[in-house]
Amino acid sequence: MNYNKKTVKDIDVKGKKVLLRCDFNVPMAKDGSGTITDDKRIRAALPTIQYLLDQGAAVIACSHLGKPKGEVKPELSLKPVAKRLSELLGKEVIMAEDVVGPDAQAKAAALQPGQIMLLENTRFEKGETKNDPELAKAMASMAQVYVSDAFGAVHRAHASTAGVADYLPAVSGFLIQKELEVIGGALANPKRPLVAILGGSKVSSKIGVINNLLEIADTIIIGGGMAYTFSAAQGGKVGDSLLEADWESYANDMVKKAQEKGVKLLLPVDTVIANAFAADAEHKVVKNGEIPDGWQGLDIGPETVKLYCDAVKDAGTVIWNGPMGVFEFPAFAKGTEAVAEALSKTSAITIIGGGDSAAAVQQLGYADKMTHISTGGGASLEFMEGKELPGVACLLDK
Ligand code: 3PG
Repeated sequence: MNYNKKTVKDIDVKGKKVLLRCDFNVPMAKDGSGTITDDKRIRAALPTIQYLLDQGAAVIACSHLGKPKGEVKPELSLKPVAKRLSELLGKEVIMAEDVVGPDAQAKAAALQPGQIMLLENTRFEKGETKNDPELAKAMASMAQVYVSDAFGAVHRAHASTAGVADYLPAVSGFLIQKELEVIGGALANPKRPLVAILGGSKVSSKIGVINNLLEIADTIIIGGGMAYTFSAAQGGKVGDSLLEADWESYANDMVKKAQEKGVKLLLPVDTVIANAFAADAEHKVVKNGEIPDGWQGLDIGPETVKLYCDAVKDAGTVIWNGPMGVFEFPAFAKGTEAVAEALSKTSAITIIGGGDSAAAVQQLGYADKMTHISTGGGASLEFMEGKELPGVACLLDK
């Protein structure tokens, strides 16, 4: 995939209406109060928004929120986002009542250079996730330029993330540009040795990443729940741990492929087991592959921690996707915490995939020590799988 895409700096936006796709899919409090519990994604969009406004563009921002499936769901309205964005920008954000309906059209038509408005949740429209050309055309008709800065949604070929680019000159904002440069750079031309740390619960959700990284990385470290499928595949006893029996032969294939390619594949040598999936469960350390029935592995053990931390010490680049254990429970956060600490101390370029690993690094207080924390969960995963990202492919090449 070509990552060398035109950016907002390569196009004249002065006096123009700019349709700006952001990823404002932010977590909200479950009580229905509309409280945003983490505004990181809104903050991440500010540099592009501010640049466009400073250049004299009229900004028509848009985003999805949650999965309303083509229906108007008031609890998934972007109104709380408009309020937070307005506080962060220190200026009014005009909120439209719809996406391409009469209110959005009228407000877009009246929008002046230096002003910003926000369309309602793009997924209130049935055509959004189907990439309906009529919806894309209607959105595009309100603007003269399309800027995408929604890195978290670039793996979706939807009307607002890809379809609109058929009708407007399309460029990237600063956030997408940075994600492409850092992650794309690490995949295409990494400072070596390149160490990939892969965790999380399921092998099945990481197949593509493991496969692609076996072609690129010097060392691959496996942790988290998926390590038990590797252990079982090698004949180990995994007790009640997470296990994807259907993926055992795949796990063995990956071990073989690593050997053939000369990639160091590190698997846990010990594990912290618990007698229940609970924060206060009884727990102890056992050797990998020796988990009794009635017990389950919830974290990597201390010997494994040492092994993994040593492996990142002299790395040139480290890519990390997926926690090492159930870090939400303090008793089982030690492996994830130790890896985060090791990453904070290495001089390597450290790239944290979005989703759980980003949350872990933030929760454990190491966020400002990393080179880059991706704003994309699924998007960064698909990027690391080497897949084409429709929301990037649709942008103009440099
Ligand atoms: C995300 O949160 O990863 C993005 O906003 C994409 O959301 P989606 O998985 O609902 O498409």
